[in-house]
Amino acid sequence: MPSILLLTTSPRADSYSTKIATELAEGLRALQPASAIVHRNLATEPLPHIDDVFAAAIRKPADKRSAEESESVRKSDELVAELLSAGTLVIGTGLINFSIYASLKTWIDHVARAGLTFKYTEKGPIGLARGKKAYIVLAAGGVYSHGPAASMNHAVPYLHSVLGFMGITDIETIYVEGVSMGVDAAEKAVAAARIRIGQLALVA
Ligand SMILES: Cc1cc2nc3c(=O)[nH]c(=O)nc-3n(C[C@H](O)[C@H](O)[C@H](O)COP(=O)(O)O)c2cc1C
Repeated sequence: MPSILLLTTSPRADSYSTKIATELAEGLRALQPASAIVHRNLATEPLPHIDDVFAAAIRKPADKRSAEESESVRKSDELVAELLSAGTLVIGTGLINFSIYASLKTWIDHVARAGLTFKYTEKGPIGLARGKKAYIVLAAGGVYSHGPAASMNHAVPYLHSVLGFMGITDIETIYVEGVSMGVDAAEKAVAAARIRIGQLALVA
């Protein structure tokens, strides 16, 4: 049975995105008990940033890599296999300086691999990580799903682009937004997100 891959990325102990993403993953699991949740906490177990050795290694076939290059892609290969064997992807992130947590960007740098999660063809690139459902839980201090700040939301459009590039196009977004606009606003944001994940889990 394909797994539910839960990625949490916030370093904050009282993170809204971690809380709601975890609740969503557990709700989805309750509907498909045979699917295990595989949880990658990218904040407490950060991945190394990609470097020169990695960039060279991913452009070579495995049997042409040096020992150092093979070692540099070992973690990336593991993360790609984890993504490909998941049927559902749940990503929790905060809106950080109008984008995603850096820990999530680093995960993306490890899993967006030519020949594994996408490939180039004569008709352009195609995604190889197809057939998955993805959920993005975005916690934000302000309101970015609509209104004047929506054009500053570089998190959700970016995630749609990069997931889509890998073939993951069936995506739902859950906002936990306005959490820095007072205690009442934060409580309302969490309540609204919980209603939405309840609805999503019912139709998943
Ligand atoms: C370094 C930093 C940058 C932030 N940048 C933004 C931002 O650009 N826009 C915004 O609305 N909130 C911003 N916030 C507030 C976070 O989006 C908010 O605290 C959110 O709850 C973080 O997600 P988390 O609770 O899952 O950690 C920022 C917070 C931090 C710590």
